[in-house]
Amino acid sequence: MDLEGNLLLVTIEGIDGSGKSTLLSALKSQLADLDPIFTREPGATWVGEAVRRAIAEQIDPITEASLFVADHAAHLSTLVRPALSQGRLVISDRYSDSRFAYQSVTLKGIVPDPEGWLRAMHDGWSITPDRTFLLVLSIDDALARLSDKSGREHFEKREVLEAVQNNYLAYARAEPLRFVIVDAALEKEVISKFVADGIRLVVKMGKEGRKR
Ligand code: TYD
Repeated sequence: MDLEGNLLLVTIEGIDGSGKSTLLSALKSQLADLDPIFTREPGATWVGEAVRRAIAEQIDPITEASLFVADHAAHLSTLVRPALSQGRLVISDRYSDSRFAYQSVTLKGIVPDPEGWLRAMHDGWSITPDRTFLLVLSIDDALARLSDKSGREHFEKREVLEAVQNNYLAYARAEPLRFVIVDAALEKEVISKFVADGIRLVVKMGKEGRKR
């Protein structure tokens, strides 16, 4: 069941407004031949409904963070682990790095070491992605893309997005082999081709790994 060395779990991360949704819908057609399982956090299971409610009601940050972690646990047990154990390629729109990047910000001043607390919550049972594509763009561009959406979530404020993106960039620096930084200001076709090619490479490496 432990297929973690086989390079099959790919995640897509980035701040709100970084263009993940557009990228994901392009990847669905461009990678159809690989028959990937596309999934997301939050919301791959019913626990996601509790998360959405927590976000909408601006419940206290510890409750919110715990619900995001619960959503991750349910996602892993019902979808990610079974899919990986069948040798399927799993592509997740947001995953644990979203928790580390966002909840480190929302829990600041509430728990003593937010990132340590969050990482400890995942230790020993979560699965680290094999490759993470991080969409990066200026906060001004992200806010401009979000501006036509009514009713912004509390995550979508300038200071929050800035801090979240800085967290993501620190993780990418700490794990340069796992993270691939993508310039989200490029044309959407260029971005999706770059990421699709990158995923194909990951899959090829995974297959070669299995043959050894
Ligand atoms: P999502 O539905 O992915 O929103 P979008 O499609 O706009 O990116 O996620 C909703 C919000 O939840 C988004 O602002 C990011 C945030 N989030 C966290 O704060 N922590 C997490 O662990 C995850 C998965 C998302």
